[in-house]
Amino acid sequence: MDARMNPEAPPSPDHVTIYAKDYREPDWWVPHVSLDVDLDPETTRVIATLKVTRNGSHDRPLVLAGDGLKPLTVEVEGHDAQWTLEGDDLIIELPGDSHSYSVTTSVDIHPDENSQLMGLYASGGLLCTQCESEGFRRITFHPDRPDVLGTYDVRMRADKKAFPILLANGNKVDAGEDGDKHWARWEDPFPKPSYLFAMVAGDLAANSDSFTTMSGRMVELNIWVREADLPRTTHAMEALKASMKWDEDVYGREYDLDLFNIVAVSDFNFGAMENKGLNIFNSRFILADEDTATDRDYDNIAGVVAHEYFHNWSGNRVTCRDWFQLSLKEGFTVFRDQSFSADMGSAPVQRLDDVNTLRTVQFPEDNGPLAHPVRPDSYIEITNFYTATVYNKGAELIRMMRTILGAEKFRAATDLYFERHDGEAATCEDFVRCMEEAGGVDLTQFRLWYSQAGTPRVSASLAQQGGKATLKLTQTVPPTPGQPDKQPMAIPLKVGLVSRQSGEELADRLVMLTRAEQEVTFEGIEEPVLLSINRDFSAPVIVETDISDGGLAQLAASEPNAFARAEALEELMLRTLERAIKNNADVEAGAVVDAIRGTLEDDALDTALKAEAIQLPSEKIIGERLETIDPDSVHAARRQLGHAIGTSLADMMRAAQADGAPGTDRSVEAKGKRKLKGIALGYLAAADAEEGAALAKEQYDAAGNMTDRQSALIVLAGLEAPQRSAAFDAFYARYKDDSLMLDKWFALQAMGQREAVLDEVEALGKHPDFTFKNPNRLRALIVNFASNQWVFHHASGRGYDLLARMIIEADALNPQVAARMVPPLGRWRRFEEGRAAKMRAALESILATDGLSKDVFEQVSKSLA
Ligand code: TRP
Ligand code: ZN
Repeated sequence: MDARMNPEAPPSPDHVTIYAKDYREPDWWVPHVSLDVDLDPETTRVIATLKVTRNGSHDRPLVLAGDGLKPLTVEVEGHDAQWTLEGDDLIIELPGDSHSYSVTTSVDIHPDENSQLMGLYASGGLLCTQCESEGFRRITFHPDRPDVLGTYDVRMRADKKAFPILLANGNKVDAGEDGDKHWARWEDPFPKPSYLFAMVAGDLAANSDSFTTMSGRMVELNIWVREADLPRTTHAMEALKASMKWDEDVYGREYDLDLFNIVAVSDFNFGAMENKGLNIFNSRFILADEDTATDRDYDNIAGVVAHEYFHNWSGNRVTCRDWFQLSLKEGFTVFRDQSFSADMGSAPVQRLDDVNTLRTVQFPEDNGPLAHPVRPDSYIEITNFYTATVYNKGAELIRMMRTILGAEKFRAATDLYFERHDGEAATCEDFVRCMEEAGGVDLTQFRLWYSQAGTPRVSASLAQQGGKATLKLTQTVPPTPGQPDKQPMAIPLKVGLVSRQSGEELADRLVMLTRAEQEVTFEGIEEPVLLSINRDFSAPVIVETDISDGGLAQLAASEPNAFARAEALEELMLRTLERAIKNNADVEAGAVVDAIRGTLEDDALDTALKAEAIQLPSEKIIGERLETIDPDSVHAARRQLGHAIGTSLADMMRAAQADGAPGTDRSVEAKGKRKLKGIALGYLAAADAEEGAALAKEQYDAAGNMTDRQSALIVLAGLEAPQRSAAFDAFYARYKDDSLMLDKWFALQAMGQREAVLDEVEALGKHPDFTFKNPNRLRALIVNFASNQWVFHHASGRGYDLLARMIIEADALNPQVAARMVPPLGRWRRFEEGRAAKMRAALESILATDGLSKDVFEQVSKSLA
């Protein structure tokens, strides 16, 4: 709304930069919205009556945002109004100086032609909406900013046959018939921002259940899908009920309506959406059954169902004042869903997974041209800021505050936050202030985590003398775009000192590193100790220590903290690989092999943790450690290490691969066994491709669950063997009518580590089942291909050209999805010169395209800067 032209931005009217510092309250509030929607895929008529009230005393006109809308009529208090259209904005002069007016507009929109999947669109015979962030303005004229809260009532009317189910936010209050059409009226009593508005019409069936809240209210629960998919909704329903219970137990938060609806749709730009009382999901985060879902799919579904449900408090009841505050709801809600998943399964395994995501996705983002603070200062297109930084680093900020406050005070602080800001549009600052007040702590310096981008680097060294251990710490925060100089951060580090002889823990302390250089002493440490720092990843930083390889091996064998054990083994593998890559030498695998053997033989560790710990780090994570990445040498070194492990530990790997958990039991132990089975198969294939191919095909054919089937395909995808095409053909024949399974089929092939995969991806892009129109299908092929480091970064630059062409083609249909495919090319500075030049050229070719969306424009232009 308060957009100013940025003098530095290119002179296109579309490419306006919005600044956080320009925030002002809206001129007009909209306390109530009444919609009358005559639904039809071709042309839908939307009549909106807004109650608007003046904010303070001013004589400025009412400005309503639209996106591609043309008003058919504009009335104020029932009379034709004076209006103009400035760009997409509808400007209405309100007569006189009344406090409040009723403003009615009507527009026609065309869901069938909506390929952006924002606003009202058609998906598989359904009509559904997606309004976050700025989709409501594609449905009707409205301020469409999150600090304008109102109640909504909606009258939906549609063909009875094609759209027998009509859903919107809140409660259904009335319904009726009208010839071939029928209608329903929905009312949402909770004031909400327009981005939480939702509507669905279609031929849907419900899995219905109920939940009784802590105060004894019965809530009706429905998961709406196509009739044929009903049997695949059981797991999501269980996850929903578990989430509702968990939020009561852990945060004291009760659900507030008598009805909670979820709808699964197959065309969706993101994972899911927390619309009040009517969550809409990408079907891939709802549908699961034992024949088609992997253990990971099951866990992802539970995590996303929980995430969207938790938004009812962290997002909906307390929402964001402006989009710069996005992490207020997303960081907090990710933290809440991670905690839920940890409580439902294995906490250390969950933490290792979350840290892995952070290192694989967020650290590179923070270290590249698109780096931005958790609370950004500016944007061109806000959708580009639904990032790992805002979501996952944002969650780490909440976690750090919890670590600093302790569990009890943290709960008091969230209680205060929910009470104080219920029904409001709040800021990150409001949240931190609640933490300070209820926690009795000063978070002045901590606030830098919200404003400074970049991953802090900490170096640590430990010296011992006469019963005293001295820990020397230093920190630096690297420069990022627009932020050349950084201040030291407040970094909570969980530090352990572990006896070298006995493995016993001699100290366990939370150290607050607040200065550029700092010394911490531990008294009464008589034995030689090993430093274990950033236990549980207490801070999202990169730590370098002077611990020896032998020390790491010892930590990997005996650290009492299970998370830290796995971390020590990963660090040992990374150092081993780094050394070989830097010295252009053979990988010296001895210490790693011994550590993996020790891990596998240790009865004190559960299987899930063993599996997690012995995995080779991905090529991307290896690359992140290097000054400049040569993907070939990263790949070669990783291969060598895999080969050495697989060869030296072949018998153990054979046993683990043969063992597994053949059924569909999803206990932590059974999931761990299946995970270990897949990893062991990978090591065996690395040692001996022929044996690997035979075993993988056997595993595929005998599999009693999708986890085993998929881990066999992952291994086969990387092997030049006849078993590969046999298995992929069998998979296609078995699942070709199931679109989520076809996504897997495309994704697994794009992930294969063979040179021919370049050609194969090109060919898959022309496969009859491939389409740019479905975001899941597009991502399955292209996003997985672009994360396949060694193949994508082929020295010829062919991977870059292919991605650039795909982005250009996708952008014409769906800018949000296209823009999310740009970051792999933006990493050019990290690669050796030849590749860097080719990556830049690919970015230039995108930028030179006419009619580029502002979404892609922003990502590409910032990537080149
Ligand atoms: N708020 C959603 C979530 O976190 C994210 C989301 C869903 C979204 N659909 C979107 C963001 C479309 C931008 C555009 O779960
Ligand atoms: Zn969210």
